[in-house]
Order: sequence, then C-alpha cells, then structure tokens
Amino acid sequence: MASEVDFPRHLLELEALTREQIELLLDLAARFKHERAKARKGSAPPERRELLRGRTIITLFFEHSTRTRSSFEVAARSLGADVLSFQKDASSVAKGESLEDTVRNLDAIGADALVVRHPAAGAPRLVARAVRASVINAGDGAHEHPTQGLLDALSLRERWGTLENKTVAIVGDIAHSRVARSNIHCLSKLGARVRVGGPRTLIPEGIEKLGCTVARDLREALTGADAVMALRIQNERIADARLPGARDYSRTWGLDARSLEMLPRDALVMHPGPVNRGVEMSSDVLESPRSLVMDQVDSGVAVRMAALCLCLRAEVKR
Ligand code: NCD
Repeated sequence: MASEVDFPRHLLELEALTREQIELLLDLAARFKHERAKARKGSAPPERRELLRGRTIITLFFEHSTRTRSSFEVAARSLGADVLSFQKDASSVAKGESLEDTVRNLDAIGADALVVRHPAAGAPRLVARAVRASVINAGDGAHEHPTQGLLDALSLRERWGTLENKTVAIVGDIAHSRVARSNIHCLSKLGARVRVGGPRTLIPEGIEKLGCTVARDLREALTGADAVMALRIQNERIADARLPGARDYSRTWGLDARSLEMLPRDALVMHPGPVNRGVEMSSDVLESPRSLVMDQVDSGVAVRMAALCLCLRAEVKR
C-alpha cells in the first residue's frame, strides 16, 4: 500500500501518533476485517500469508490476557509469521533474569517483533531501547494499551462512518486504566468528544489535560452520549481500600436496562473485556443488540494484523 504517511517501527503509545498515522492503520485494519468477514462467508480473500512469511514474532505477557494475546497470535499467523509465546513462569525470569536481559536474548534468537504486556508503565519503551526488533505495547501498567484504543476506534468508525463530533463516555476505573488513556488520545485525535466518569477516588486529578471532560455521575456521563464504554475496576493495581464494593459500584456506575434509559436510543455500549457481569454491566446489556463487545474483539485481530504490517514494513499491495 503506497502511502505518504510514515509509521513508527515501534507501537508504544497513541499519544505519540498523529491522526494521519492512526487513520492509515485503521484503513488497513478495515480492509483486513472485511476480508476476514468475507472468508467466514466462504469467499476466498486475497492471500495474506506472504506478508510476514519468514518473520518471527514473540509475545511476552507478564500479566494475564485472553483476548489480546490470542488475537496478536492469530493475527501474526494469518500473515504467515512464525509465532512464539514466551512463558514467564517457565522462563529464566523465574531464576532472576532481568527484563532487559530477557529481551536481548530473544532479540539474539531472531525475533522481528516483540509484543509486550507488563505491569510497569514504560516497560515496552525500555524493551524498545534494548533490542533491534520492533516492539508493540500490549498494555503497560496504567499507561497505554494502543491496539485496544485502535480497535475501539475501528468498531465505532465502522458504525458511524466518522467519529467527528460524536461523544463517547468512558465510565469506571479511569485512574488505573490503560484502556481509558489510549482511548482518550485516539478518539479525541479522530474528532470525538470524550467524557469520563466514575467513583471520585478513581478519577485522577488533571485527567482533563489529556483532552476529556469529567462527568460527576452516571446521568451526566450518559446524557446525549453516542456510545458508552464501561471499564473494569483494576483491583490488581489498587493497593488501598478507598474502593466502592461491587454492589455499591453497580448501583452508582453499573450499566443495566434501567441506567441505559439515560442514553439516547441508538447509542452503543462497549467494554474491552474481561467483563464482570452484574458489576460494570448486566448480562442483558452485554448481550443486547446495541452492544459492540464481540465486534470489538473481531476488530482486535484486524487492528493487530495492521499494526504488525506497518511496524514490520510489510507491503500490502491490494
Ligand atoms: C484490558 C487490559 O488488560 O488492559 N483488557 C484487554 O486488554 N482487553 C482491560 C482490563 O483488564 O480490564
């Protein structure tokens, strides 16, 4: 795909990308998503396994994952790459080897790309400095989760055509959420207005500086919004007890049939997963026709295919 837009070799954060770079990636991801949908219906899509044939992609997850890891691996395989899944607990990390030494060794083994998830914000940047391979951030602490922001934008753009002048409410644990940060950067660069809301202790001071407004309660967050994204309370990142219990939380910030009446009728409901049913969102909302949750997962494979192609300079011709 001939393009005037340069794309970085590492995908570390959406804060650093321009609107043009984001759109370049989303356009390519939209093609891949469309081809995957056609293939499911039985028609033969263009052969994509040549794009990364002979390349080695290693996924290194120092935190749990269901969607992100499997969709990176499916994406890489569908492009013909060899995929290796690094197991932290079965590796020499368990013997005390540092992150930098670990990745230098994987680099020497011949990785072309390292897909890194780590509890420490900034870890993928550290890895990028230590290796020759491209590095893709698959979530670093409470900092960013760039491919999640991109897949959310892809699902919304497909529904709406454009994000320009749309309002997206993000509700939940904003303070500890890398998904919130990547989405604030991504959606606002694409022209949407972003509102955040959640329990007072979970809204970081100064979050407005990232380019969003803060809603005081669920009604204020949902009124007039075109989509709402619910986030999980990131218990694993919270050391103190200033937290509302699950019952309290679901009463004040949870999305159920009743609270959804505050939303415009055609507004969409999203969640990055994993969902705690009955806490952030009730089962009927999760499974309702206005829920984009499974479409977000589908977008995830296509976005990760596009990210791998762009970072590894694969030339997509048609
Ligand atoms: C999120 C994550 O790990 O940041 N999940 C995901 O990647 N889809 C959100 C979460 O864990 O709540």
